[in-house]
Order: sequence, then structure tokens, then C-alpha cells
Amino acid sequence: MSQNSSKPHFAIAIDGPAASGKSTLARELAKRLGLVMVNSGAMYRAVTWKALQEKIDPSDSAAVVAMLSQIRIECGQSGMSSTCTIDGIDPGDELRSEVINANVSAISAIPEVRERLVNLQRSYLERTSIVMEGRDIGSVVFPDTPFKIYVDADEEVRAARRSLAGEVDSVSKRDAADSERVTAPLVVANGATILDTSHHSIESAVGAAIEILTEQGLESSQPSPTSK
Ligand code: CDP
Repeated sequence: MSQNSSKPHFAIAIDGPAASGKSTLARELAKRLGLVMVNSGAMYRAVTWKALQEKIDPSDSAAVVAMLSQIRIECGQSGMSSTCTIDGIDPGDELRSEVINANVSAISAIPEVRERLVNLQRSYLERTSIVMEGRDIGSVVFPDTPFKIYVDADEEVRAARRSLAGEVDSVSKRDAADSERVTAPLVVANGATILDTSHHSIESAVGAAIEILTEQGLESSQPSPTSK
């Protein structure tokens, strides 16, 4: 349901490299603003999980595309967070496993995978206003939204955050793959403001993000209308 039924739905785009603090920031912003938080990375991770289940080599794009035509991907919401199931299954914590971390960039570089998931991502706006985090949200998914933040942090800070979370994840390798791919690479989108979270606490990063969004035209009590 819309948080503000008299106004069109709108999207806040949060992009950035791995472990930059986007998820935490997007979650806190969504909570603060009463919006649904959509984790687009979980969708790429879910497709990667399915390919690995099916013993498909993630670098074999023809096989991945063939699999894509056979599977049902459903994205919805539970409470104020997005959900994603493949053939009715939510892979849960497996999405953050080492093997998914190591293979998701290969899957997400396949244009047909992106096209399918971007359509699902855009469809959220038909139902509600959102904070969506990812790599191409401000550049490709919702290029016309005025609300765009590119979250960054020093590489050492990002690697430390990931291992603190108990994850095995070569963030620099994944960032290089995500930035160098041809389709929808990780970029600072036109109109995005960069927020470096290296020396921010969660609370101060949220405060800085609210300031940026206010400058971009978001009204705190009644968010300004915009479309995708
Ligand atoms: O949480 P973290 O930043 O480590 O990653 P994520 O947001 O879960 O995204 C996992 C992977 O999905 C990324 O490394 C990208 O390869 C891909 N991805 C993408 O290509 N486009 C998006 N909008 C979101 C994620």
C-alpha cells in the first residue's frame, strides 16, 4: 500500500560497491521514512543460487539464459522488506554464502538476467514507494528519480566490515567485475550525491543521507511526488 495514497509512488536509489554500508543505510532510511526497502542484490543472488543448484556453470551464459526461461521468479514484500523466491523457494541465509559471493558477479553480468530482474524491480513502484539498493538503481532501474545516493567507503573499511559480519567475500574482486561489465556497470549515476560512510556511525550516515535527500527535494513529512 502506498505510504501516501494521494501522491504517486517514488523511489530512493541507493547504489555503491560491496560492503559500503548501502544495505544498512537503505534499511534505516526506509524505516525512518516509512518506505519499503528493496534489496535488488538478493534477486541476483537468488538467480545465482538457482544456477548452482542446477549445476550450471555461472560463466556459461547460454545455459543460464536457458534456465531463466524455465524458472518462476517472484518478488514481493513481507512487512516493509522485499522478498524474492525462485520456484516458490526463498534460499534464505544461503544467499550470503561464500559460493554465492564468488559467483554472483558472473550471473549479474548477463544482460538477459538483468532485463528480467530490472522489470521485477520496476514493478514495485506500481504498488508502493521504496528505498531500493543495488548497483544500477539510479543509473538504469530508476534513472529519472531525483533521489539518488552513491554510498562509498575505503576499501580496508569495507573488507573489515565484511569479515566482521562473518562473511568470506573478496569485495575488491567483485567490485572490479561489477564496475567493468558492459551491461549496467556500477557507476555514480547522473544526479547522485556521493556519501562516504568510512568515518560515519550508522546514525550519522542516516542523518547525512536525510540531508542529501532533502537537498534533492524530498520533503520529510510529505515526500515529494515523482515517478520512475
Ligand atoms: O551486499 P553486497 O553489496 O555485498 O552485495 P549485493 O547488493 O547483495 O549484490 C550482490 C551482487 O549482485 C553484486 O556484486 C552485483 O554483482 C549484483 N548486483 C547487480 O549487478 N545489480 C544490482 N542492482 C544489485 C546487485
